Amino acid sequence: VAEDGLNAWLRYAPVPNADALRAQIPTTLVVLNTTEGSPVNTAGKELSQGLKGIVGLRLAPCGKSRPRQALTVGTVAQFLDANPTVRFDLPELINDGFYISVSGGNVRILGQNERGALYGAFHYLSLVSQGNASDLVVTSNPEAPVRWVNQWDNMQDGGTHGSVERGYGGPSIFFWQGRIRPDLTRAGQYARLLASIGINAVVVNNVNANATLLSPENMDGLARIANAFRPYGVQLGLSLNFASPELYGGLHTSDPFDKSVIAFWQNVTDNLYSRIPDMAGYLVKANSEGQPGPLTYNRTLADGANMFARTLQKYGGICMFRAFVYDYRTLNQTLSWKADRANAAVEYFDKLDGKFEPNVVIQIKYGPIDFQVREPVSPLFSHLQNTGSAIELQITQEYLGQQAHLVYLAPMWKELLDFDLRVESKPSKLSDIVSGKRFNQTLSGYAGVVNVGMNSTWLGSHLAMSNLYAYGKMAWTSSTTPEGVLGEWTKLTFGHDAQVIDVIKRLSMASWPAYEDYSGNLGVQTLTDILNAHYGPNPGSQDGNPWGQWTRADAFSIGMDRTDKNGTGFAGQYPPEVAAMYEEVETTPENLILWFHHLPYTHVLKSGKTIIQHFYDAHYRGSAVAQTFPEIWKTLKGKIDQERFDHVLFRLVYQAGHAIVWRDSICNFYFNKSGIPDELGRVGNY
Ligand code: GCU
Repeated sequence: VAEDGLNAWLRYAPVPNADALRAQIPTTLVVLNTTEGSPVNTAGKELSQGLKGIVGLRLAPCGKSRPRQALTVGTVAQFLDANPTVRFDLPELINDGFYISVSGGNVRILGQNERGALYGAFHYLSLVSQGNASDLVVTSNPEAPVRWVNQWDNMQDGGTHGSVERGYGGPSIFFWQGRIRPDLTRAGQYARLLASIGINAVVVNNVNANATLLSPENMDGLARIANAFRPYGVQLGLSLNFASPELYGGLHTSDPFDKSVIAFWQNVTDNLYSRIPDMAGYLVKANSEGQPGPLTYNRTLADGANMFARTLQKYGGICMFRAFVYDYRTLNQTLSWKADRANAAVEYFDKLDGKFEPNVVIQIKYGPIDFQVREPVSPLFSHLQNTGSAIELQITQEYLGQQAHLVYLAPMWKELLDFDLRVESKPSKLSDIVSGKRFNQTLSGYAGVVNVGMNSTWLGSHLAMSNLYAYGKMAWTSSTTPEGVLGEWTKLTFGHDAQVIDVIKRLSMASWPAYEDYSGNLGVQTLTDILNAHYGPNPGSQDGNPWGQWTRADAFSIGMDRTDKNGTGFAGQYPPEVAAMYEEVETTPENLILWFHHLPYTHVLKSGKTIIQHFYDAHYRGSAVAQTFPEIWKTLKGKIDQERFDHVLFRLVYQAGHAIVWRDSICNFYFNKSGIPDELGRVGNY
């Protein structure tokens, strides 16, 4: 079962209608590139292994003469080379896209490139696993070229192993004792999972990067990671420490205009590409949370990003530059009504639009603060019209229960991606901005912070893996529905039993609303411990902290006034139609009302309830929903293996208890602040 955990949704378990399916699949496999390590060769291996597991079919490699019916996998070009006389309508494929046709006993899986062929093979296996192998034609292209994941892996921690910042699945799969692990089996297994959901690059180290990663020995190690990824078409990316010229290169400055600094970075890039010719590029966190960056040297953020981008250009690499730029020390000093960390990204980047090299992509967290349970879409997406942008999502549940709570995130991502920013009063869905469509950008897309670890479940929880699966599928096709992709993932992970599928759907779809209810509703942000762990309730830490994550709660009122007329001005950063909506209490969606407005606890919501009563009710409701989770899960006893059953149950029981801790802690805190008792007598009357 531990092995099954590692295989996640690629278990290739037998399906109920295996015999019928097997009869429809050709028995000969034609692999159009058999070079060891090529993605097409990997596709061939997956097809053999997969069909053996799923339907018990042993595929035979093709001999000298080709049978009329075969399962063929390769690129379109390889196919046309091998079959000059075969005529067929060429599908319209873009980079990484694939085409599958199943007809007349022939199966063709063709990619625009080798990676696309592998994606096609995984897609075909997923269809068969879901019981579908008969006549079909699929043409599938990714919406966005950048479909990356970020790992926040440290090279070491206080002990000996590589820790993972905000990682809840054990030590790093890449680093150990300040070096790259000798055994990179898990890196290859991770790449396999990622390829099966269309992810094309992994940034392997923490955005809070370590400069010693640039030593020749560590560069050799990084090349070994890239080698482990390559058969799966996954490229390696690196986070850089902006101050490396000083910290590692012995220079007296890291000024991006200094010639020796530019030469230092070009040398680093050349050394990396000599070892990893297909490296994806860099990720840079600069001038953020006390770290140095171009602003330290009176240069603009664009000056900094462009310096890295230029070193990458001859290799086709990309510089992902993070928009998570703010100075918390300054914010701490200015606890004025106007101070607002949420304003920082637009203030820094707005004037730089169009000033970036073409291979720079600005990586923007979905909301303006930091992965809260609910945030409005970052307004920066509407400001960058001449620069590629990518949305940063978190698969690792930093503020969302750290995988000890079940929180299925796809519904939240869907709401964000569907949000219409109405730039110039034209339809401007976030998904169309990050696909590059809205502003005609060629480089743009998705970055997901995943933070898997050595744990045999990868993320520390079996059910949390649906978030990773959904992330890849939504980055490929943003219209993917949260329920649909969940059903698919459940079938592949737990089998076809209708009750299993139904129970996991009920729990998962109820989980984000429940978590929001018991951890921070009405857009007040996740009322967690803001100072350090970001875990468990601590509403008291939400004000006066140096991080600029504030709720401005006092004895009478709560919420950040972010209006233009009276508050921090954040609402005014949106295009006019959206700005007008958030400016007024009446038109702000209530699930964000305290994000944008400072209101008395007695303010009456559309439901007729006061804000304080809504708080009490929501926390009771959310925790009551979490109470039902273990009982619902228990109905699956005997329907899934005992190990996974117990593993999940343990967490759900914990969540049910912890939801009560959340409920009571928050309700009591606001009762003590406001002195207003609960109308239903649950809070304040004992
Ligand atoms: C959050 C998170 C940090 C992380 C930072 C970032 O603040 O808690 O661990 O380094 O975001 O995204 O850079």
